[in-house]
Amino acid sequence: MRPKIIVHGGAGDIVDEHLNAHLSGCKEAIEIGWAILDQGGTSLTAIEHSIRILEDNPVFDAGRGSYLNQDGFVEMDAMVMKGDGLNIGAVAGVSQIRNPISLAIQILHDSKHNMLSGQGALKFAQTLNLEECEPNWFITEYTHNIWKKEINKSRKYGTVGCVALDNYGNIAAGTSTGGTKHKETGRIGDTPLVGCGTYADNTTAGVSATGDGEAIMKVVLSKLACDLTLTETSVEHATNKSIQILNSRTRSQAGLIMIDNKGNLGCAFNTPRMSRAWIDNQGKIKAFIEP
Ligand code: GLY
Repeated sequence: MRPKIIVHGGAGDIVDEHLNAHLSGCKEAIEIGWAILDQGGTSLTAIEHSIRILEDNPVFDAGRGSYLNQDGFVEMDAMVMKGDGLNIGAVAGVSQIRNPISLAIQILHDSKHNMLSGQGALKFAQTLNLEECEPNWFITEYTHNIWKKEINKSRKYGTVGCVALDNYGNIAAGTSTGGTKHKETGRIGDTPLVGCGTYADNTTAGVSATGDGEAIMKVVLSKLACDLTLTETSVEHATNKSIQILNSRTRSQAGLIMIDNKGNLGCAFNTPRMSRAWIDNQGKIKAFIEP
């Protein structure tokens, strides 16, 4: 089976000044993940490296560049899921770990639990020597200005994610976020909740979602989209229908990317923009931000 990979850099009101950085960031992330898959690496390794690139890029709402909570510091969520054994690793409300996606993967591999949060997650990360950063390292001038409410026109949501299918037929999906702007301290979004921000099942598909986390939770968007591949005639129909259901039941906004177990790629969103990139059947990078 030929491998497949798709990434997103978040759905929302991406401001014009950030368009180029979003596109180049998504392209850089997809190149790294594709190189791993092309050389026979696993889907989990590919999504980890792609998402680390997006977390380190300050234009995205994940890792460095995460939105600040009401008290002025970042609290990040991330999750990975493997489609072969339905194994999960998730982390919620971490503030000091440079790459929450790598912590989520360590939880998948090394913890008897599916999700760790806050101080416990930090303690677990420290036992594995994962890289820590000072709280200020995560803050950019842009996110600080949003926090001070000096910028109002900014994107409402953020989040990054990646789905990959490897040579061995295994799907992995991952999502990482700083959450929504002006969120209350302690708020946990959809991203680390299984089936909401992320889902992967080799019998259906893998999905990473972005957008209004409170609404995404209500329809369990990623699992909904995976299950729709069983009844809809294409990935395009399954992704579109899941966003239609989210819109009709919650009147809110979200986006998602998907790869099904036959290697078909898709995305859908009802926000003004969503940055995303993938590798087409000719091995070329495609990257878009507009509908
Ligand atoms: N979808 C990201 C969040 O609401 O936290």
